[in-house]
Amino acid sequence: MSAYFTEQNSANVVNERMAPDANPRLQHVMGALVSHLHAFIKEVQLRPEEWESAIRFLTETGKMCNEERQEFILLSDCLGLSMLVDAIHHRRPTGATENTVFGPFFVAGAPEKNMGDCISLDKKGELCLYEGQVKELNGQPIANARIHAWSDNDEGFYDVQQPEAQPKWNNRGVFTTGADGRYQFLGIKPVSYPIPDDGPVGKLLQQLGRHPYRPAHMHFMVEAPGYEKVITHTFVKGDSYLESDTVFGVKQSLIVEFEEIEHEQATWRSAFDFVLV
Ligand code: BEZ
Ligand code: FE
Repeated sequence: MSAYFTEQNSANVVNERMAPDANPRLQHVMGALVSHLHAFIKEVQLRPEEWESAIRFLTETGKMCNEERQEFILLSDCLGLSMLVDAIHHRRPTGATENTVFGPFFVAGAPEKNMGDCISLDKKGELCLYEGQVKELNGQPIANARIHAWSDNDEGFYDVQQPEAQPKWNNRGVFTTGADGRYQFLGIKPVSYPIPDDGPVGKLLQQLGRHPYRPAHMHFMVEAPGYEKVITHTFVKGDSYLESDTVFGVKQSLIVEFEEIEHEQATWRSAFDFVLV
């Protein structure tokens, strides 16, 4: 084959430039990426002005990134890429708790709480009693499991999005299970909210006629020595965005019925067991 680049041999010519002793995984991944990108450009017959527009879009996406904001991850989320990578690498047996998207609003170092404590510091919103058990597939309770919980406030914002308006660590806490594996805490019944949509990703969604909303959810990360870490949410059954989550995070097994209860503080109860592998 000629070493000169033509429309027909484009991907091969580029890929053949890789040194045979380059990292094999890098060769595999970059080779496939180049092949798919070339095939894509040929399929859509990409025009020069569209190529320029893509470069501008990626440049703007990069400029939007800082310590607090990761616009590239948002792009990956909205294109379903984050969920696909997770699906491929966290296949679990039936009955095990499924993962979903991590999201950008986890903050390490949230306060350690006791069972029964409330993670809402501003006490705004409707309180919900979250309870259940961390257990193995065979039903054995898991002791010393750490449950990180975090949610938006009653207006749909995480504390880190409103450092002036919300107390630090509002709606966040970490709980450690005892021998019975059980957990219980108070938090708010979360509300649906738009992902940050004032950047290039938001503009793209708008041009595609897509809304930026996520259905109401409580985030959880559950880890225990010897078990695979679970990064997930529970979703509020009945939320109108369950079927159109802008980041494709909803799974049937994670939808929970929030039931109205009589309790001195909470008006809702959400029961969910975490089953670890
Ligand atoms: C979240 O649920 O916090 C989230 C996930 C993906 C993108 C933006 C927000
Ligand atoms: Fe969220």
